[in-house]
Amino acid sequence: MLVLGIESSCDETGVALYDPQRGLLANLVHSQIAMHAAYGGVVPELASRDHVRYLPLLIEQALAEAGVARDDIGAIAYTAGPGLAGALLVGASVAESMALGLGVPAIGIHHLEGHLLSPMLATDGPAFPFVALLVSGGHTQLMRVSGVGDYELLGESVDDAAGEAFDKTAKLLGLPYPGGPSLARLAESGVPGRFILPRPMVRSGDLDFSFSGLKTAVLTLSQATALTDEARADLAAEFQQAVVDVLEFKAIQAMAQTGLDTLVVAGGVGANRRLRARLDASFARKGWRVRYPAPELCTDNGAMIAFAASMRLSSGEAGRRDGVIAVKPRWPLATTA
Ligand code: KG4
Ligand code: ZN
Repeated sequence: MLVLGIESSCDETGVALYDPQRGLLANLVHSQIAMHAAYGGVVPELASRDHVRYLPLLIEQALAEAGVARDDIGAIAYTAGPGLAGALLVGASVAESMALGLGVPAIGIHHLEGHLLSPMLATDGPAFPFVALLVSGGHTQLMRVSGVGDYELLGESVDDAAGEAFDKTAKLLGLPYPGGPSLARLAESGVPGRFILPRPMVRSGDLDFSFSGLKTAVLTLSQATALTDEARADLAAEFQQAVVDVLEFKAIQAMAQTGLDTLVVAGGVGANRRLRARLDASFARKGWRVRYPAPELCTDNGAMIAFAASMRLSSGEAGRRDGVIAVKPRWPLATTA
């Protein structure tokens, strides 16, 4: 069944068409980064208005690129949460009304479920069960993924998410929005170890994380001395290394605890090159597999939403035909079953 997927939870408008037999037929993303850059972060009202502007255009373009007609669509999936309420409502309204008009089911998808299933879109993608490390701007979680909708939370951040820590630290260092990629770029020209930052929670004995102290430590260090460009790069490198060390340490703990042999890394921070290099090396040594979504599927997109819906539909879920427009800006993933 051909599924139209719509993502509008934050600052990317994503539209995709996925068919289990034919694969991904279209996957279009309009990024709002340039629009929000002037404000140093996402402005929710501007995000919603931009989704209104681009969604209808992207849907038409996706249908044209895939060479299919509206009537070929069998179901419409959209991100129902978590995310910015207004932004989510744009996607939900378009999806629910279009589904009602076409007489097909609509299905609301959890944004993080989209991220964590997205590596399965590859032809040689991982099979259930696996451990997922979700590292995005809003979440840092380790989950045991046993099947579609069968997600057990193993641990999560008690304060800032990893991506949020990257973004806030980048701001402290005077780097442009979006901070994560800027800080990662600066870190590549620096050397970790010149400044010493903590590795928070590595001795906590559980799989939880805490990243807000790192940001405070960077603030203290940067206020104590006037940083040269070289020192700034070294501080960025140490910050990145501290986050990577903790993520790697806890991911290894999660594998040992669950006895599973495959880790899936999803969410924006999963694009971090240092994180990938470290996980690849340590998992290879242990004989475990680590899988990432294709690069174009690391950031927010409609393909992961269409794909998650397609998996839910083929496992017997029917979707809804009541046209009700409701979103969940806060929505724990473990309650999606
Ligand atoms: O999954 P995502 O695109 O959106 C959310 O659902 O949050 O993740 C965005 C987050 C941002 O915090 C961004 O700074 C971070 O991922 N990010 C990175 C890198 N690329 C994106 N953080 C570290 N290194 C990167 N290369
Ligand atoms: Zn995301």
